[in-house]
Amino acid sequence: MENINWSEIGFGYIKTDYNVRCYYRNGKWGELEVSSSEYLNIHMAATCLHYGQEAFEGLKAFRGKDGKVRIFRIEENAKRMQRSCEGVVMADLPQEIFINACIKAVKLNERFIPPYESGASLYIRPLLLGLGAQVGVKPANEYVFVVFVTPVGPYFKEGFKPTPMVILRGYDRAAPLGTGTIKVGGNYAAGMIPTVKAHEEGYSAPLFLDAKEKKYIDECGPANFFGIRDNTYITPLSTSILPSITNMSLMQLAEDLGMKVERRKVLEEELATFEEAGACGTAAVISPILKIDDPDENKTYQISKDGKPGKRCEELYHKLRGIQYGDEPDTHNWVTIV
Ligand code: PLP
Ligand code: COI
Repeated sequence: MENINWSEIGFGYIKTDYNVRCYYRNGKWGELEVSSSEYLNIHMAATCLHYGQEAFEGLKAFRGKDGKVRIFRIEENAKRMQRSCEGVVMADLPQEIFINACIKAVKLNERFIPPYESGASLYIRPLLLGLGAQVGVKPANEYVFVVFVTPVGPYFKEGFKPTPMVILRGYDRAAPLGTGTIKVGGNYAAGMIPTVKAHEEGYSAPLFLDAKEKKYIDECGPANFFGIRDNTYITPLSTSILPSITNMSLMQLAEDLGMKVERRKVLEEELATFEEAGACGTAAVISPILKIDDPDENKTYQISKDGKPGKRCEELYHKLRGIQYGDEPDTHNWVTIV
């Protein structure tokens, strides 16, 4: 694409040529359809609009030095979409449809996949919506699955540079037995005030505590949290966080690098003991944490002492990006070449 400055793009929407759609009607999914329209024609009584019958995913395609295009861990996103569908009682989406639609959307928009040197990638956004007209609170009988793609740069504008986070005790993202573990729009609506507030106050994201006891770390805005101490990668186990595919991958890479891995409840106080910490996710990749403020408790946890990413964060970041761009061998079979 002649007029895109690839290394300067942020995490926003850039129009591409095509999107892929698939409709569920009369109890079955139809064929994949290709559209060049950016719009959906939706009934005003569709359940996605009123009752949040909606789920989405986020994954990326990367162009390697060898020119090949790699999608990272697509099967895991397909499985998570199925858990999300189940969680808000939508028609189950076969993994095959998810995978074929994503690959098709990437191929059709090949000219929008950023060049290797730019460090940018093609973000793939699958979404599934309840369409059938209902007024009572009940599941729709028709659904649409849509996949669009858009080229993206870093989610946090600082990229791989430590940024501050904040605990805003007045807000919860998800209840202990709520929808926090699935990727549905309602979770992001609940997190919108603290997200905006955190940004206004100069933080890159809110760090959510568990909603019940307000003692344990849940997650960081649109990303999971991890801390590193004594050669150990520590990440929260909770019934209200989204199981991040990036985090799952980093746990494996940490083991590969000879680190111990602990997935368990993490007390807020433990923040004081971490040598390094970060937020991780498809969009955020690894975003190292500079410090975490807890203004209501008058506390600050200074994580990075010199303002730079720690050694382990660096290693994990390079290993992950290396696999994604094809610079490192894909020893765990995480990559699909399209
Ligand atoms: N947590 C939340 C709330 C998210 O929105 C995301 C983004 O998908 C993540 C964590 C990271 O998950 P993943 O690594 O699968 O992208
Ligand atoms: C992702 O990391 O893929 C996300 O979905 C985060 C955010 C843009 C919602």
